[in-house]
This record gives sequence, structure tokens and C-alpha cells, in this order.
Amino acid sequence: MSSVRGEFSSRFGFIMAAAGSAVGLGNIWGFPTQTASNGGAAFVLMYLILAFCLAYPALMAELVIGRHGQANAVSSLQKLGNNPVQKKFAFFVGFGGIICAGLILSFYAIVAGWMLSATLEPVATTVGAAGAAQWLSEQSLVRDLSFTLIFVALTISIISKGVENGIEKWSKRLMPALLVILFSLIAYVLTQEGATTGLKAYLVPDFSSLLDPGLLVSALGQAFFSLSLGTSVMIIYGSYISKQENLVSLGAYVTLIDVFIAFVAGLLIIPAMYVAQAQGVEIFSASGQLLSEDTLVFQVLPALFEGMGGVGVFVGFAFFALMSIAALTSSISMLEAPVSYAVEKFALARTQATWIIGGIIATVSVTIILNFSALFGLVVQLTTQFGQPLLGMLCCIFVGWIWHRQKLLSEIQEGHPEVASSVFWRIWPWYIRFVCPLAIALVFINSLN
Ligand code: PFF
Repeated sequence: MSSVRGEFSSRFGFIMAAAGSAVGLGNIWGFPTQTASNGGAAFVLMYLILAFCLAYPALMAELVIGRHGQANAVSSLQKLGNNPVQKKFAFFVGFGGIICAGLILSFYAIVAGWMLSATLEPVATTVGAAGAAQWLSEQSLVRDLSFTLIFVALTISIISKGVENGIEKWSKRLMPALLVILFSLIAYVLTQEGATTGLKAYLVPDFSSLLDPGLLVSALGQAFFSLSLGTSVMIIYGSYISKQENLVSLGAYVTLIDVFIAFVAGLLIIPAMYVAQAQGVEIFSASGQLLSEDTLVFQVLPALFEGMGGVGVFVGFAFFALMSIAALTSSISMLEAPVSYAVEKFALARTQATWIIGGIIATVSVTIILNFSALFGLVVQLTTQFGQPLLGMLCCIFVGWIWHRQKLLSEIQEGHPEVASSVFWRIWPWYIRFVCPLAIALVFINSLN
């Protein structure tokens, strides 16, 4: 039964929605390309450690804040504050997260727009619309503006339908589709010449790079981005979880799926690069460095698909459809964060709130596109390198230092008393109090050097 403010109707529904938020361009594009330029399996290893030891505990903090609050991120955090100062601090963290989610969506929609146009290009080629195919494949202001706006409109249309009929329904459809496309593409690419060299580059670690502090910073940033932390998204998704569910295992499922898909995406992207290389496409620069991420995705891979002949059109379509689907299930979560706040704070109707906020975000996206070289990198850096780790850390501080330990335990074990004697409860409160804030702060300070 759904409550008035909306609730996920099932355990599966929540897992698909939260994993849908987590699994996005960060997994399928960011993780493999970061791995390839950071020492292959050494990066994977570091990522796994950070994802389970730091990002999972931080994810649990956000989920439990939301489930306890049963409200938007600001109100949920404010319920934990005991005095006016703490409540102000709660507002700062919750509202900061909402702004961060909105800003991430504004640049994410631009990249997702590129994916959408790349998905349509093979379709135009197949139906013989050579002019349209040409327009879709060439970067232009009109093309970028159009597809960014189309992508934001798609996101708005899902979010305006609410939690169960919008977020949950579409995540349950799109996530299985994503898995089918991903595995079919892997099966295909691994049969191609050059794939084995790619697999070796991915799975054989270069341990010397483990000591590189840059690797640690990149891996933590990637883990936070991938689990959508520090953006109030997981607080709001947590608030839609029924009190009967076991939060500890739900959070673990989401982390496992996220890490699994990132790892599996590596089995597609890195071998694909080497298959392209075997076909004569350059993937390394003259100095031996891997080419930039966008060169790889928008030049190397399309060149690879083209070289495959007839089947290439289909593979290219499937690849960019995969990227677009992954982006959509993430973007809906980013829009839900500010929309849920506006609906509850200003008593707006959901459709109205969604269009207003979607409109504001689209305006920011357009501004970024029109000032691309000055703004794109800046917004990415501001949100992912500073905003997310910092706000994620503050959520840990809230749970670890401000919330009463006994109340925290009763929320975590609601309907599942066995949690009180679990290994999780023995370790996690201590982790969230000391280890997470300190580790995040250290890595963060390191990244400033
Ligand atoms: N987790 C998404 C990805 O890996 O692409 C990105 C993301 C979604 C970041 C939602 C932040 C967010 F609030």
C-alpha cells in the first residue's frame, strides 16, 4: 500500500530504483575509462575496497536518515537536530545536497543528450536518411541543445508520475533491459580479435600504481559519484522504503549491483578499445597515454562499430541505447531530490513542481552549453570533487555524532531485531563516527594538493 507521499511498492522496486540511480554513466563510461588510465586492476581493487568500506557505510547513513524522517531531505535531516544550531546545520546539508543533485543533472543531461543522438544515428543510417545521420553525428549547438532538452523532458515525464508509477515502474523496466543489452554486447565484443589483450590490460594489476595518491582520490570520487552520495538522493529514496524492510540488506544489494555493473562494464569497454586498436584505430596518444574519455566514446567506439560492417549499425545502436537507459534511471533520481522538497515545503502539486524545477535545470544546462569551455568542467568539479564528498561526510557526522545511538538502532532494526546482534551493528556505528569522516576528509584534503 502506498502512503499519501508515495512509497516503493516492493523490495524489488526499491532495489531497481536505487540501483538505477547508482548505475549510470559513471559505471559504464567513467569506471572503465578511469580503470584503463589508472593502472587497470590495481584501480579496480582500490575501488572495491573503498566502495565496500567507505561508500557502503555512507550510503547506509543516508538511507537510514530518510527512512526515519519519512520526508524530503531537509526535513528528514532536521528531525535529527536537537537544537536550532543543529537544525540550521541540517538545512545546510540537506539543501546543499539538493542543489548538488540539480547541478549534477544539469551537466549529466548534456552528456546524456550526446548519448541519445548517438543512439538515433544508426537508426537514421538504417532507414537511409543520410542527411539526418550526418547531422546527428556532428557536434553542433543546435544538436546539443535539442537533445539535452529532450533528455530533460523525458526525465520530467517520469518524475511527474510520482514514486510508484514513475520512478519504480520505469526503473523496473529499464534496469533489466540494461542488463540484457550489456551482456549481449560483452558476448559479442569478446569474440572479436584483440579482445584478449584488452581483458589482460583490465584484469592484470600494475601494483606499482597502488601507491599513487591520485589513484586513491580518483577511486573515492568514483565510488561517491557512483553511489549517488552527498546529493540527498539516497535520503529521499530511503524515505520511500517501508518500515518493514531490512535496510542493512537493501543497502548491501544496491552497493553490490552498482559495483558489479561497473566491473562488468569494464569487460565491455576495455576489450572494445583493444578490438578497435587491432583494427587500426588509435587508442593511445603519441606519448603512450590513453586518449581522453570523450575521444574514446565518441570516436574510437563509433569507428569500431563502423568497421564491423552491417552488424555494426546494430551494435552501435545497442551500445548508445545502453548508455541512454543508464543515464535516464540516474537522472530521475537527481530530479526527485529537489521535486520532493518543493512538493512538501511549498505544497505544490507534483506535476507543477516537476515542470518548474525541470525548467530551471534545463535553463542551467543551456547556459552551460552556451559557455561550454568555461562552465562544464567547473560544474563537474564543483559538484563531484567538492560537493559530494563534503556533503556525504556531513551526513556521516550527523548520524555518528548528532543522532542518539539508541534511536538510530531502533530505526535500523525496525521489524528486524536480529540486526542489533549483527556484525554490521557492531562495526558500523563506529565506522560512521570515526572512520568515514576522517577517511573522506583525508582523501579530500589530498585532492586539493
Ligand atoms: N550514480 C550515477 C552514475 O554513476 O552515473 C550518477 C549520479 C546519480 C550522481 C545521482 C549523483 C546523483 F545524485
